[in-house]
Amino acid sequence: MAVLWGGGCKPEGWAKLELSKQFVPDVVLNSFGALGRRGMERIAVLDSGGQYCHLIARKIRELGVYAEIFPVGVSPDRLRGHKGVILSGGPASVFGDASPQPNPLLFEAGMPMLGICYGHQLIARYLGGSVERGRTHEFGSATLRVRGDSGLFDGLAREHRVWMSHGDHVVSLPKGFEVLGDTSECAVAAMGHERQGVYGLQFHPEVVHTPGGSGMLGNFLRHACGCAMDWRPTDRAETLVRQIRAEAGGRRVLFFLSGGVDSTVAYALAVRALGARNVEAVYVDTGFMRDGETTAIERAFSALDLGRLRVEDASDRFMGRLEGVVDPERKREIIGRAFVDVQDDILSAGCYAGQDWILGQGTIYPDTIESGGTNASDVIKTHHNRVDRIHKLIDEGRLIEPLSEFYKDEVRDLGRSLGLPARLLERHPFPGPGLAIRCICATRVEGPETDEAIGSVAGRSGYSAFLLPLRSVGVQGDSRSYARLTVLHGGEFDYGRLLPLSTRITNEFRHTNRVAAALSPRAIEPRDWALKPATLTAARVRVLQRADRAVRDYLRREGLYERTWQCPVVMLPWGRVGGETLALRPVTSVDGMTAAVAQLPADGLFALADRLVGIDGVDSVLLDISNKPPSTIEWE
Ligand code: XMP
Repeated sequence: MAVLWGGGCKPEGWAKLELSKQFVPDVVLNSFGALGRRGMERIAVLDSGGQYCHLIARKIRELGVYAEIFPVGVSPDRLRGHKGVILSGGPASVFGDASPQPNPLLFEAGMPMLGICYGHQLIARYLGGSVERGRTHEFGSATLRVRGDSGLFDGLAREHRVWMSHGDHVVSLPKGFEVLGDTSECAVAAMGHERQGVYGLQFHPEVVHTPGGSGMLGNFLRHACGCAMDWRPTDRAETLVRQIRAEAGGRRVLFFLSGGVDSTVAYALAVRALGARNVEAVYVDTGFMRDGETTAIERAFSALDLGRLRVEDASDRFMGRLEGVVDPERKREIIGRAFVDVQDDILSAGCYAGQDWILGQGTIYPDTIESGGTNASDVIKTHHNRVDRIHKLIDEGRLIEPLSEFYKDEVRDLGRSLGLPARLLERHPFPGPGLAIRCICATRVEGPETDEAIGSVAGRSGYSAFLLPLRSVGVQGDSRSYARLTVLHGGEFDYGRLLPLSTRITNEFRHTNRVAAALSPRAIEPRDWALKPATLTAARVRVLQRADRAVRDYLRREGLYERTWQCPVVMLPWGRVGGETLALRPVTSVDGMTAAVAQLPADGLFALADRLVGIDGVDSVLLDISNKPPSTIEWE
């Protein structure tokens, strides 16, 4: 029996904790340094740079097998114990100079393997088949005709609607492979070596546009990999508790709670693992929180009976450092550092001095990937919990992140299994940097731009359009973009016309990555409006807080809160002399990785927009009508 204890700055605060040795041997290090349970069925998804990678991992988890993402070049040694490998698609061509390549030894490891799109072509090339450059791209729906009787299509129809997105294609098969399916444009749409359990699909089985795709992935897991398919995120709670004990290694854990789902679930797990006396919760009020948030969180926390919540008012410090900063990545970096500084101060002050404390965070899986967590994924936005100083804590073994392997909806399931209240688990996600990244800043006066090409595309659908010289973050072609906003106005408000038009504009014109429709006023004379210099000020944040509260109240009142994933309100320094604009960003999503516009009823939206225009200095209200991709949920 190992006995762990801490010193006693708080006499009552640190009981001896006995950690049974039996907890330790069944934990092993996995790819990201987190701990996984030996024997748990796992599938490795090798990332060649596609955002589709998360869809694959999520689909596999939904099918009941734990999936984790590795860079495509990972050493096969690190995949020992995995029951199979999936090579994802990606934006590169196998003929490109710097195209992501797998480790050749992977193909000698004898593991069941499925290649998707680019991964399908990699398998063909590495195993002795050949790939040719396509003269044109095949993009969109195709009909797959199944050939032969492969286990991959076991129990499935002989014809499938499948989603294609490729230029290159496989022209000759590796030895021992057979064609398992073709389409009118693609002779080797599916191939396989049945005995070795190695398959390639030119189309994407992971997307909704391939309705039979789950069945194919399920057959691969069941027949080729021999998976029992019985993994459920909630089964992991007890393993996580053991991991936390092992990782804490006798140190106490300080958690910074945001009041959101992730940090609360992570904290509740830590309390279950170490006891409330060994875990401390601090809530940092950055000054960029929602209206009334601090009081609401204190109240909700005391009802949970999980220990004491300490509130640290750091608003002056955050605002002081952000004064005059305009660039979004700089804002995120500064906020990340300020969080760590507040934490350092707390740790080095008073009763924490000299103690061996570590930090706990509620980081979830997508946070590690979207910030460039695997080699092939470009940095889209640096999440505040993945800045340099946090990396240093990770290197020093002073950070625990119990949820770093989970997607948001899995975290909610875990929270339910821990008995946390539904109202807390259903809260909309709120980013750590808070309203600071929803309050857009600018350095100079600029008028709107007309773009004839965009104007004429919009005109054909019955709308007028102009471009704002204001940039926001997007994700186009798997990498980050920072491009202009298109505003549509006039015309009838009709989602059936607006949404396809938004997609068309961002597909055809790469200098814009986001489209918004005017809600109030409905038509704008852009010459009378301008972008003006603006920085983060307490007064602007206050306006944003009022607007954010009004939007939240409206969503709750209309029964729309549970039906939307989030509805950020973004403030733009664009208006008539001195005025501002608010943009509403209602989205639906499963995990925040992709998102669709939440089509809120038009009448309610117009009434809401008219009310918002009454708030001090607000000249207009826009509705963001862009999906993710191409536009991230937050604008910065
Ligand atoms: P994006 O804007 O990248 O957002 O499409 C996806 C989800 O992540 C949230 N988000 C953040 N959460 N720190 C956080 O804790 C951050 O820096 C951050 N940036 C975005 C966002 O609100 C959405 O739910």
